[in-house]
Amino acid sequence: MKIKKAVIPAAGLGTRFLPATKSIPKEMLPIVDKPTIQYIVEEVIASGIEDVLIITGRNKGSIEEHFDRAVELENNLEKNNKEELLEQVRSISKMINIHTVRQKDPKGLGHAVCCAKSFVGNEPFAVLLGDDIVDAKKPCLKQMIEVFEKYNSTIIGVQEVAWDNVNKYGIISGEKVNDNTYNVKDLIEKPNRDKAPTNIAILGRYILTPEIFTVLENTKKGVGGEIQLTDGLKELSNIQDIYAYIFEGRRYDVGSKIGFLEATVDFALKREDLKDSFSSYLSKLNLK
Ligand code: G1P
Repeated sequence: MKIKKAVIPAAGLGTRFLPATKSIPKEMLPIVDKPTIQYIVEEVIASGIEDVLIITGRNKGSIEEHFDRAVELENNLEKNNKEELLEQVRSISKMINIHTVRQKDPKGLGHAVCCAKSFVGNEPFAVLLGDDIVDAKKPCLKQMIEVFEKYNSTIIGVQEVAWDNVNKYGIISGEKVNDNTYNVKDLIEKPNRDKAPTNIAILGRYILTPEIFTVLENTKKGVGGEIQLTDGLKELSNIQDIYAYIFEGRRYDVGSKIGFLEATVDFALKREDLKDSFSSYLSKLNLK
């Protein structure tokens, strides 16, 4: 079955980026000059998906506005013959069909995914977390869709992380079925280092089958008092095969300050209009 829909949970409070996120959604913080959520939406489009549901919450209105027309701004750019900017602004509102729904209470990622039930219906769908930007030759989600087409079952995007960081992630263990795919046997959300079976972490990309909704509706609160998607997936693994795929690409945790800074530097250095002046600035820094 073709994956036609993607869900982007964006209801989190962004406490790691206060005070900036007091009034600005964390998804609107820019890497160079593009909001982080636009990178995610562009990955969705490049992976051939037609409809996106963004799960928002209070104070997230600017996300919707970003993907809508901005008539006054467009008129102004037109009047001043700023054609390139005009095209850029217009193209964002034409990108893809964006739908939104509000998660009324921040009860966790598992609960947020449940809010997508009526949008998704009875078909497999993609979930992309906004804190994880992946820079890859082939878009990360496209790689995952190809794996889904092989197994027709739930696929989780993973990569190894430093052992000191396993307590920040959902961790999987399983049997290797080939160089980059595991048949998942166990999942645990944010384990302490001594409880983690591996250092293979879930990194914000999922292809889920619709059975996840029934499972999540019955999933109890887990780590942090929240309904965890990882716990739902563990339950689902008792009913159907789940595969973890080690995707190719450099993943940035733009929800952390250091990941955000790394992405900013790397993405700026890739920009034709910035790379020369920015790298000459960096080379002048007296880094110890
Ligand atoms: C969420 C998931 C976790 C996953 C992580 C990836 O955690 O619950 O399993 O490893 O995203 O970024 P969060 O970072 O939202 O606490």
